[in-house]
Amino acid sequence: MSGLIASGGAAHAALLGLGAYRPSRIVPNSEIVDAIDSSDEWIQTRSGIKQRRWATPEETVQVMSVAAARDALADAGIDAHQIDCVIVATVSHLMQTPAIATAIAHELGTEQAAAFDISAACAGFCHGVAMASDFIRGGSARHVLVIGVERLSDITDRTDRGTAFIFADGAGAVVVGPSDRPGIGPVVWGSDGERADLIMQRETWPEALERGEMPNLTMQGNPVFRWASFAMAKIGLEALDRAGITVDELDCFVPHQANMRIVDALARSMKLPEQVRIARDIAEMGNTSAASIPLALERMKRDGEAKSGDTALFIAFGAGLAYAAQVVIVP
Ligand code: COA
Repeated sequence: MSGLIASGGAAHAALLGLGAYRPSRIVPNSEIVDAIDSSDEWIQTRSGIKQRRWATPEETVQVMSVAAARDALADAGIDAHQIDCVIVATVSHLMQTPAIATAIAHELGTEQAAAFDISAACAGFCHGVAMASDFIRGGSARHVLVIGVERLSDITDRTDRGTAFIFADGAGAVVVGPSDRPGIGPVVWGSDGERADLIMQRETWPEALERGEMPNLTMQGNPVFRWASFAMAKIGLEALDRAGITVDELDCFVPHQANMRIVDALARSMKLPEQVRIARDIAEMGNTSAASIPLALERMKRDGEAKSGDTALFIAFGAGLAYAAQVVIVP
C-alpha cells in the first residue's frame, strides 16, 4: 500500500484585507437611560460608552456581513470566487440552522466555498482568524473570509441595567491568505466552563417563547470585569511571547471592546509603552461582541492610528468563558 497523499499548504498566512459595516442607527446614551434608571454620566464613567449602533430591521446579519466582506475583499484585491472558506463568528443569527455563512458565501459569489458559523461569543473573531491561518498553512484552503457579526440588540433586554447600555450591533471582516512572511502569530486560546454562567442566554428558546419573550443575554458584570482585566493581560503577554515580539516592538493594541475600563486595565497590566496605539472604538460603537476587533482596527486604520505593516495584538474574551489572543501584521 502506498499510503495517502499529505495535504500541503502555504508556508505562512496573513491578513490580506479588512472591512467593516456600521449600522445606520446611532443610539446615544440619552435614548436608553430612562428604561434602566441610569444616566449618561454613569454609563460613560463605568464603561466609556457614549453611543452605540443598533441595526434597523433591514440591516440583517446577512446584509451587514456581506457589506463588511465586500469591503474586505476590495481591500485585499481578491475576487469572491477565490475564497474557498467562509467562517462566520456570531451568537446573534437567530436561525439555528442552516449556518448563515452558506447564504453569505452564495450572495458574495464564491464558488461553493466551505462555509460554517462558529459560536465563541466575543472571542469568535480571533478563533476564526486562528482557524483560517491553520487551514491555509495546512492546505485546506487558500483564501478564507472571516466575519465577526452581531445583532445583539435583538437579544438584549432594554430594561436590564447590567446589559442594556453595553451590547450593540455591527460587522467586521478579514480576508486571510498565503504570505511569504508570517502575518498571524500563534494563537493563545482557551476556556473556563466553570464560569459559563457569568454571561449567558437567560433561558432556552422554548422557555423564553412560553413567556412570549426573547432569550435575552444576562451578565454578572463585576466578576467578568475582574476576570477580563487581570487574566486576559497574561494571555496577551503570552501571545506576544509566542510571536517573538516584545511590548516595545508592538505598534497597536486592539482588544475586544467590552468596556473602556477593561481596555485601560489591560494596557496597564501589560505595561504597554506609551507609543503603543490603543483601540477605543467602544466609545462610539458599544460592545459588538464578535465584530468588535475588526471594527476597532478598521477605525484605527481610517484615523491613521494603524497602518499597513504595523504589529497589532488582538485579545478577545467573553461568554463561555472563552478567550483567544494573537499578534498580527495589519493588512
Ligand atoms: N446605571 C446606573 N447605576 C447602575 C447601573 C446602571 N446601568 N447598573 C448598576 N448600577 C449601580 C448599582 O446599583 C450599584 O449601586 P450601589 O453601589 O448603590 O449598590 C453600583 O451601580 C455599582 O454596581 P456594579 O454592578 O457593582 O457596577 P460595576 O462597577 O461592576 O459596573 C459594569 C457595571 C457592567 C459597567 C461592569 O461590571 C462591567 O463593565 N463589567 C464587564 C462587562 C463586560 O465587559 N461584558 C462583556 C464581556 S464580553
